[in-house]
Amino acid sequence: MLKRNKQKTIKDIDLTNIPRHIAFIMDGNGRWAKKRNMPRTFGHHEGTKTIRKIALEANKLGVQAMTIYAFSTENFARPESEVNFIFKLPKEFFQLYLQELIDNNVQVCMIGHLELAPEATQNIIKSAMEQTKMNTGLKLCFAFIYGGRDEIIHATKNLVQDCIDGKQDIQSINESLFESYLMTDGLPAIELMVRTSGEQRLSNFLLWQLAYAEFIFTDAYWPDFDEQELYECIWLYQNRDRRFGGLK
Ligand code: FPP
Repeated sequence: MLKRNKQKTIKDIDLTNIPRHIAFIMDGNGRWAKKRNMPRTFGHHEGTKTIRKIALEANKLGVQAMTIYAFSTENFARPESEVNFIFKLPKEFFQLYLQELIDNNVQVCMIGHLELAPEATQNIIKSAMEQTKMNTGLKLCFAFIYGGRDEIIHATKNLVQDCIDGKQDIQSINESLFESYLMTDGLPAIELMVRTSGEQRLSNFLLWQLAYAEFIFTDAYWPDFDEQELYECIWLYQNRDRRFGGLK
């Protein structure tokens, strides 16, 4: 468990060995707010500022993609008022920061079931994706109404259907073909997964894609996660011995 010591600076990391794709479970917004006697929604609001900060820094460092767990299929179990608040955050986020993301060549993308969101939320996210689709910098990917098991079932159904329709042949199914049916198709392999707030579990996030990722769990709540903490995570990643099942 990474304790917050914030001793790392950009000078400590090897800029030639930056993880190509970092996944974040941005946990702890509610507890961050509770600690300040504020409503949980205030924590989510603060959490969007961290998304902006970390996306811009990751982009500067040359990270190719960053996937952030914004709403899980299980999050529908939260009180309706909180769910409604979270569904309004994309509007606020893109009103405040879309131009800055465009100016920094960031491309917005998403995985998950956007069709289950209110129409206004769908439109805001679709418009951000449309306006940034030609950008070539960081792919800022929101996992929104996303669940890892659901994604695998979805991919399997589509692949089976294509086999029935004669578009695919069962004998040709391999990992790379299966991956092309996942929602993350086109994104680089995830090399680092960071979960904030001290919890140490995956919570149904990117179950297939995280097979060989390095995991870092930090005790910082997401609104407190900052650039120095990102450097620290990258430094730790660079000091891990990645063997992919082989020997070194
Ligand atoms: C985790 O904190 C955070 C969430 C479940 C959702 C946060 C969602 C956003 C900030 C929306 C962002 C989306 C866009 C497109 C900008 P928690 O509530 O689980 O915290 P806790 O574990 O302390 O209760």
